[in-house]
This record gives sequence, structure tokens and C-alpha cells, in this order.
Amino acid sequence: MNYGNIPDTLIDAVLKQHDIVDVVSKYVHLSKQGKNLVGLCPFHSEKSPSFTVTPMKQIYHCFGCGAGGNSIKFIMEVEGYSFPEAVRQLAEDANIPFDWDDTPKEQTEQQKEKAELYKAYEWSAKWYHYLLRNSEHGKPAMEYLRLRGFTDKLIDLYQIGYAPPMWDTLVQFLVKRELDPVLMEKGGLFSERKSGTGHVDLFRDRIMFPIWDAKGRVVAFGGRLMGDGQPKYMNTPETMLFNKSKILYNFHHARASIRKTQTIVLFEGYVDAIKAWDAGVLNGVATMGTALTEAHAKLMKNNAEQVILCYDGDQAGQAAAHKSLAILESVGCKTSVAIIPNLMDPDDYISTYGPHQFNTEIIQAAVPSTKFKLLYLERNHMVQRDVINGEDEGNLRYIHSALKVIAELASPTEREHYLKSLSNDFHYSLDVLKQDLHAVRKDLQKVKPIGDNNDNSWNNVMNNRRVVEAAPSLLPAYHNAERNLLAIMMNFREVSDYVQQKLGDQFNVEVHAALAAYLYAYYSPGREPDVSRYIATLQNSKLESAASYISMIDSKQGINSQVIDDYIREIKKYPFQMTINQKKEEIMRAERLGDVLQATNIATEIIALEKQMKLM
Ligand code: UTP
Ligand code: MN
Repeated sequence: MNYGNIPDTLIDAVLKQHDIVDVVSKYVHLSKQGKNLVGLCPFHSEKSPSFTVTPMKQIYHCFGCGAGGNSIKFIMEVEGYSFPEAVRQLAEDANIPFDWDDTPKEQTEQQKEKAELYKAYEWSAKWYHYLLRNSEHGKPAMEYLRLRGFTDKLIDLYQIGYAPPMWDTLVQFLVKRELDPVLMEKGGLFSERKSGTGHVDLFRDRIMFPIWDAKGRVVAFGGRLMGDGQPKYMNTPETMLFNKSKILYNFHHARASIRKTQTIVLFEGYVDAIKAWDAGVLNGVATMGTALTEAHAKLMKNNAEQVILCYDGDQAGQAAAHKSLAILESVGCKTSVAIIPNLMDPDDYISTYGPHQFNTEIIQAAVPSTKFKLLYLERNHMVQRDVINGEDEGNLRYIHSALKVIAELASPTEREHYLKSLSNDFHYSLDVLKQDLHAVRKDLQKVKPIGDNNDNSWNNVMNNRRVVEAAPSLLPAYHNAERNLLAIMMNFREVSDYVQQKLGDQFNVEVHAALAAYLYAYYSPGREPDVSRYIATLQNSKLESAASYISMIDSKQGINSQVIDDYIREIKKYPFQMTINQKKEEIMRAERLGDVLQATNIATEIIALEKQMKLM
């Protein structure tokens, strides 16, 4: 069975210990609907619930976007984990020992290295923190932090530390603990001496900010110089533990609040996230000196309904916010922007105006992303609002760009709202602007259909881009037969055995043939029917989605051999029917060419095929 190297028994135990409803409920608000529970899908944006959880089968399926699978699959999708990572997480949560004895050697090596490195980072963070709090060397660093408004409580909570100026403080500390210097170098804590003999600390004379992964393990550092100088912050390079484009600073601290508020506040800097936390913004995270990536955006989308961008107030910060908006919206995040005045950054603002004002005037006053985009354009076009009837070129260019932004909005009410302010500000009639907007939207729709996944979804009202297969009644008979048959096979082993004998892999739809093959394999060691466990064997999104969908088909008719035989016949007939149709076309062609002999021959073949079909 294709479990990678994870034993079936472990997967079975994990699935048994984690009820799908409990697992999903941590992320999605579910309400009861008959035998199922439904909620808003965490994987695409929607207004009405198409996300369905079936406790009896221990699976979920979204009728909106087609996502589906068991508890393991859900954790993979929502946390961005690989299959083994998701199993490990669920095993750890349920206190199931997670040891694979049949892991190949190579992987054990890597796992060992990782484990050693995690330990090294944990110890280093503690050591740097200790040195800051207790050593003579740490005193100026403490002073620096105090001046910047860091309380002891905050320093402890964020385990802020200090790397002394000497060459080998950390080297000595870790080598004494028998950690391998070569691995420490590979892991971003040491660097090799220029002479090539031995190692020195990578971070020296810097304030150390530990960086945690989503599970709260220290995996890197950001080290800040106290004075001016370059680089101001030095970050751990990419290592086997640290991937900057996937990790968000402070995510593990903020997780609980993010769940509760379904909102994430995104900052640009470590200090901003920390100071905002101190000011009561408990759901703040930050990127680390790199642009926001799609992976970051997806992580946020999977954990919250909306994202508030809170970037620096200067031109660079606002330009970065503009870019990040596009990325967030491309994955379907609802976004708004908290704008900080006077070129300040969040930390400056909090220090100057205090936590209360930061919350009310900045965070709570965040503007919808459309509003932000319009303001941003306005600034960049040097708009002059008092020019009557927009004679000014800059104004005209602005209006055209503004119409493009407004055209992206899915809701007519929203569009009207922004058009009205344009009309008021620039003294154009609403009708004229509407005509222009209409033209822009037409162009836009040529490029991409406006649906609910790509557009500005904080006001998304449409859900018209169903990617799931057509309704059963619209599908050809053989297709329905294959689905219904698979649904029964998933619930009854004897039916699967029977179909294996009679039909084998002769399903016409490729995905169905694959599902059948996996089902035969699933049952072969004598397992009992269990959709969720069966799905664990697929490890392929397309198959998982199809399997979860099919398993939702009611197969309560149970085993009716007549019905099953009818399905099998329907499926077997299809290739014959296809051949016959083809041959009929050939006859027509032959007749057109006046080739009577050929036509007769083909007709005979058709009769033979039809005879065979009757015998089925
Ligand atoms: P900023 O220059 O805005 O710094 O960089 P900051 O967050 O306000 O930091 P303080 O208040 O001066 O201490 C924003 C973020 O960009 C990354 C860091 O993650 C920083 O928090 N950065 C900045 C670097 O990685 N390297 C640098 O040299 C500078
Ligand atoms: Mn700052």
C-alpha cells in the first residue's frame, strides 16, 4: 500500500483518534444539517456553505471547490503540511508514538540532523537570552532595549537575547554539548574560520530575536545591530529548518487570537509585531525582510477570514502594501489596509501615541483594499481635486486607473459606491462614469471571467465558478454507473471483490479506474470498509477529491445484485457503443465515396458488435 514509509497501523490509529468533526471544527464553524455538518469552505471564498463533513464516513467534501478527504488530508491542506508531517502532527496531538522502523537510511540521517539542529536552536535562544539578562556584556543591549520601550515581560515572552562580540561564545557553548560544528555551520549558527580551521559564531554583537516556526520551535534568528551600520538586521540563512518564504514571524504566538478573531494583522518588522502585541494586537505576524510570498498568503488564508495590512507609512511601505494586496487577493483573502500617518512605522506610532490610539485610529480604522488602492493611485497621479471637470491630464489618467480598480469589484453596490465618490470628487456625471466602467468591465471579462475566487472577495457575493463535475443527471449513463458502483464498493467489500472479478480496471473514466485499483488494493489484506482509511491510501488530490465526492453518494440501496449487474453492463457497453458509433461514421464516409463493399463490411462488423453487447 502506498503509504510512503508510514505503517498502516499508525495511520489507522491516527484516524481513529481524530474524529473528522473535531479536526475540522478547529478551523471551520460547522452546523448540523441532517446526517452531515456544513460550513464555509476554508479552501475557497464563498458566502453560502458548500463544505460538508460526514461523520459517519469520517470525511469532508466541498461541493464548491471540490476539496475533499479525511482528517489527515484536511490537516495537510489547512496547515500546508506534507502527508508525513500531517500524520506526525496528528499523532503527536493524540500522544501516539511516532516511530517508523522501516524508514530508509537516508531519511533517518536527515531526521537526525534536523532533531539535533532543533535542539541547538532551542539551546542557543536560551543562552542568548540568558546572556542578555545576566551578563556584563548584555548590559548595553538591555539599555538599548529599555530605551526602545521593551519591558522585561516582553523581553522574556519573546525570548529576546544578546550575542556578545567575542568570536566563539556560541561555538564553545554548543560544542561542549556535543553538537557537531559542521552541522551547526550548515544550520546557520556557525561560520567557518577564514583560515579553514574551526568555526566562529555567525552572530556577534547583535540583539537576537528568535524566530519560531508554526509549531513554536525556534528555527532561526534575526540579529539587530544596536548602532547604525549594515546590515541593520542579519537573519539566519535558509536552512533545512528555516524557509523565509513560508514562515511568518510570531505566528505561533498569534495563533489562538487568529482563530478567535479570524483576522490576521500583517506587519513588516519584528519589532512592529512585538510592540503591537504589547499594545493588545494579539493576532499580528510579520514577514522577515523579504516580500510576501504566495505561500505566506495561503497560510494566512487557511487560518483567517481576513488580513489587515499594517505596513510602514513611508512610500516604500505603501508600495509594498500595494504589492502584497495583489498576492493576498490572488489566493482569495479578504484584505484591508491600516494606514499609518507621518511616515511612521507601527512601532514609532505606538511609542508616540500609545496603544489605545493605535488600536482605534489605525487597526480598527483600516480601510477596504479598494479604498486603499484608490488613495494609492491618487497619490501617484498627483491628482488635483479642485480642477473643475477634470481638464487636468493627471486627473484623467487617475480616473482611468481608478475605473480599472472599481471594475474588479464583484458587487454592483460596491461599484456604485466608489463611482459616486469619483463623480463627486471630480465633477463627472455618474452616468458618464458608468458608461466608462461598463467598457472597462467588458474588456476585463474578455481576459478573465469574473467569479469569486480571484476578485476582491471582501464583498464577494458570487459563487458561480463551480469546478465540480456536472450534476449527475447531465452525465452520460456509463459515468453515473461508474460513480454509483464505486460508491457501493466503498461500503461493501464483497461488492468490490465481485466487481474486481467482473470488471477489473475496465472503468471508462480514468479517475474511476484508479479509484477502483486503490480500492481493490485497500481491501486485499482483509480490511473492512472505511472510506476515510481508504482515502488515506490515495495520496493524490485529484483522487481524494473524487473519492470524497463519490462517497457522498447515497448507497443505501445496499447490495442489490440486479442493480450492480446493470451498472457493470452499462460500463462494459460503453466502449462497444463508442466503436459502433465510429463504425457508423465510417459507413457514411464509405457510402459518400461510393465504396459499397467497404460499407457492407463495416455493417457486418457492427452487427457482430451489437450481438456481443446483447450477450453481456
Ligand atoms: P525596517 O528597516 O522597517 O526595520 O525593516 P524595523 O522593523 O523598523 O526595525 P527597527 O525598528 O529599526 O529595529 C523591516 C524588516 O525588514 C527586515 C527585518 O525583518 C525588519 O524587521 N530587515 C530590515 C532585514 O532583514 N535586514 C535589514 O537589514 C533590514
Ligand atoms: Mn521600526
